[in-house]
Amino acid sequence: MTDPRPVDELSSLEAAQELARLATAIAEHDKRYYQDDAPSISDADYDALRQRNDAIEARFPKLVRRDSPNKRVGATPRSGFKKVRHAVPMLSLTNAFDAEDVQDFYDRICRFLSLKDGQQPTIIAEPKIDGLSATLRYEQGQLAQAATRGDGQEGEDITANIMTLPDVPKSLGDTAPALVEVRGEVYIRGDDFAAMNAGLRDAGKPEFANPRNAAAGSLRQLDPQITAQRPLRFFAYSHGALEGLDITSHAALLDQLSAWGFSVNPLTRACKDVPELLAVYAQIQDQRATLGYDIDGVVYKVDDYGFQERLGFVARAPRWAIAHKFPAERAVTRLNEITVQVGRTGAITPVANLEPITVGGVVVSRATLHNEDEIRRKDIRPGDWVVIQRAGDVIPQVVEVLLDKRAENSQPFDFPQTCPVCDSPVERPKGEVVARCSGGLICTAQRVERLKHFVSRDALDIDGFGDKNVELFAGLGWLHSPADVFAVPQRAEELRAMDGWGATSVAKLSAAIDAARRAPLDRMIFGLGIRQVGQASAKLLARYYTSFEPWQTAMSKLADGDEAVRAELLNIDSFGEAVVDELQAFFANEGNRAVVAALGATMDIQDVEVPTANASPFAGKTLVFTGSLDTMSRPEAKAWAERLGAKVSNSVSKKTGFVVIGADAGSKATKARELGVAILSEVQFRAMAEGEALASSQPAPSPSESEQSA
Ligand code: IVH
Repeated sequence: MTDPRPVDELSSLEAAQELARLATAIAEHDKRYYQDDAPSISDADYDALRQRNDAIEARFPKLVRRDSPNKRVGATPRSGFKKVRHAVPMLSLTNAFDAEDVQDFYDRICRFLSLKDGQQPTIIAEPKIDGLSATLRYEQGQLAQAATRGDGQEGEDITANIMTLPDVPKSLGDTAPALVEVRGEVYIRGDDFAAMNAGLRDAGKPEFANPRNAAAGSLRQLDPQITAQRPLRFFAYSHGALEGLDITSHAALLDQLSAWGFSVNPLTRACKDVPELLAVYAQIQDQRATLGYDIDGVVYKVDDYGFQERLGFVARAPRWAIAHKFPAERAVTRLNEITVQVGRTGAITPVANLEPITVGGVVVSRATLHNEDEIRRKDIRPGDWVVIQRAGDVIPQVVEVLLDKRAENSQPFDFPQTCPVCDSPVERPKGEVVARCSGGLICTAQRVERLKHFVSRDALDIDGFGDKNVELFAGLGWLHSPADVFAVPQRAEELRAMDGWGATSVAKLSAAIDAARRAPLDRMIFGLGIRQVGQASAKLLARYYTSFEPWQTAMSKLADGDEAVRAELLNIDSFGEAVVDELQAFFANEGNRAVVAALGATMDIQDVEVPTANASPFAGKTLVFTGSLDTMSRPEAKAWAERLGAKVSNSVSKKTGFVVIGADAGSKATKARELGVAILSEVQFRAMAEGEALASSQPAPSPSESEQSA
């Protein structure tokens, strides 16, 4: 692990030694990551090495090595693939970890669809293949393009490579529709993986850590001839864009995929209730070790496409599917040291630095300890032997301490009372579990983490402005506040003069920054990293205020205690006191108000587009639902209205556009009549909405239950 000594305390000899060690280590990790697709440390650990290297170089500029990681060009990712924008986004799945989560999923579906007893939806259970997803586009029956998932919106063009897979049909024959995107998982079987690694070993080449990495590395080869020699396979399990094919269920799709010559997983089963789902899960889990390929759970999907369409999406995952994961893999290792990290909001998170160990095919050297109470509850001490577990892409955790292996002289961990980065006092308000650095924006760690968030994919999404560059520019003193991001292009000349920055990379970054000036309001709001304000809440705020200025004015008023604004916010459906309190606290801070004002002045923030093209009768209108609806649940009605551009509110006022009245409607209906607000019956609402339903394709956001920022 990284030397924990503060950089300020290093002598120049120690600094030189450490820079030499870091240069070698980082070069090795770069090679493993970029060339071999076989990283042996987590991204966070890698970032820590780079950060340490940069900090030492900043303090000892004369000691910067010729082979410094910041000078090498070999560390840039391969970028030889063309980008492909997915016609239909490639979504991810929500996870279920136990029977209760599965029951909740099932109940939620029945409630959302307002299904009466006896109307059970068929659910298909199929193995969750541990590979990487790909989408294959067939035009007039011919394989025209293949792409990786990428970030879900945009992937890489891997057509030539996919063409080399024996179980991918190049043509779908006579029954092919005009257009179909077949989606599925590229994977490598265990025996093929072992043989392939043996070949690499014999050839003196680095081996892959596990079949998944091997599949990723093999698929992302710039030379398709190499891909052709790799034992890649493909299971088809869903579709993207589809034209000219009438399919009404997932089971029918799988049959059609088989008929076209795709491999469809043979363990797929149709189930009618939760006990059946759990039985299939248990069966698949029993067979896991002997399947011959890696799976990491079972995916449940609502069979009927009509139901799928009504259920729609939450953020990035469908409501109609869930991944029931297998229990986490565990291992025993030594905890060498406990260190702490400072997050974007100052949260101090203790981290276990472990003796590296392989868990489920991945080398783990750090695990989160969550917070002070957790350390105390589990009595975790430096030097202990611990059981760690890792589930999918979840951060590894310490499950328990092996007390019989504890050294006699072991000492409990002293939670720091001051921030390790800025030395400000650490505060932990009564009743809260999270300790925070009180340094606010004077704390470099907080500032840098906030800036990373601001430019990140879900916020301003500035291409080429990764964590490493945020650290670099912050270290150079160029970035203090988010608005400074937009001044980076003015430093183009300085940047070009720096090692590792060519004219092209500087021009690309500058162009990406300039483009981000025109970010939409919701991304800017999300980028501020206000606690409790995740992507979905940011979207709802942006939708409500539609453009920057009214939003900024309202937030200032809120901070000044304006009750009307507070009530207005609480009226936004699904906004509770917690979000509003955090917004108020954020804007009560002068510094934060200045940050927002500077962004307003520097950026050209885009108004929210309310769907008007198809002139939905609900676009931009506020809707209130009251009474019980007969043919759909409240959440479905709300999601539907939002898809058509409406805001859904809880209470009726003069500003309300429509009140939709179900059975036994009470005071809200009365108030609507008094105020002369338009009233719709459920049937009328459906008729108006159905007229528009076909026109809209984008799912409306609804906040995920756990939306929070750390
Ligand atoms: S369905 C909208 N089915 O799991 C649903 N995904 O965690 C799209 N995966 O990105 C996915 N086996 O790479 C589906 N039988 C299966 C799957 C599967 C593996 C992967 C896929 C997806 C990820 C989501």
